[in-house]
Amino acid sequence: MVKLVGKNKILSAVFISGRGSNLKSIYNYSIKKNSKICVELVISSKSDVLGVKFARKYNIKTQIINYKNKVKAEARIIKLLKKNNIQLICLAGFMKVLSKNFVKSFKNKIINIHPSLLPKYKGLNTHERAIKNRDRFSGCTVHYVNQNLDSGKIILKQKVKLYKSDTPEQLAKRILKVENKLYPRAINKVISNF
Ligand code: GAR
Repeated sequence: MVKLVGKNKILSAVFISGRGSNLKSIYNYSIKKNSKICVELVISSKSDVLGVKFARKYNIKTQIINYKNKVKAEARIIKLLKKNNIQLICLAGFMKVLSKNFVKSFKNKIINIHPSLLPKYKGLNTHERAIKNRDRFSGCTVHYVNQNLDSGKIILKQKVKLYKSDTPEQLAKRILKVENKLYPRAINKVISNF
């Protein structure tokens, strides 16, 4: 596979911990003719995951970060981001919380996708909580990352209908399809301010 590197593109890093469907949608968006971003680097907190396989298949520079020591892990990530001149960080199913210092050093340059209609259901088990509360809608949100968990300024969010018969898995699957379309749109919006 030949990696497409456009001139003057915004160099981006995608952080993952698993399946990587959002990484895939960001990458597919990045290789479109008029896209202004390039997925330059993938950071993964896990080694043997589908997202890493995808990144390697498409020759994207990929680094697995050992998170046993968070301070060391973040120092290593910062070094990699600087070395690769990364201008935008997209968290896509990255299941580690970035430290306040890390967030501060990339102020307004880190965005995240979260599987709920923020500010509802920050943190984990979003689908279980939406079902338990008998919400009529759930959805997903792309937001800037600030120093508090899932609390930064919202960039875009989209509702997804919640059915009475939904299991968390069924709802997650429907929301994920919407996430995969929403993330590229949110990136487009963010980079218009760069
Ligand atoms: C997505 O549903 C994303 O919103 C969620 O993890 C999944 C990753 O899927 N992120 C979080 O829960 C972050 N708190 P993917 O690996 O297929 O992109």
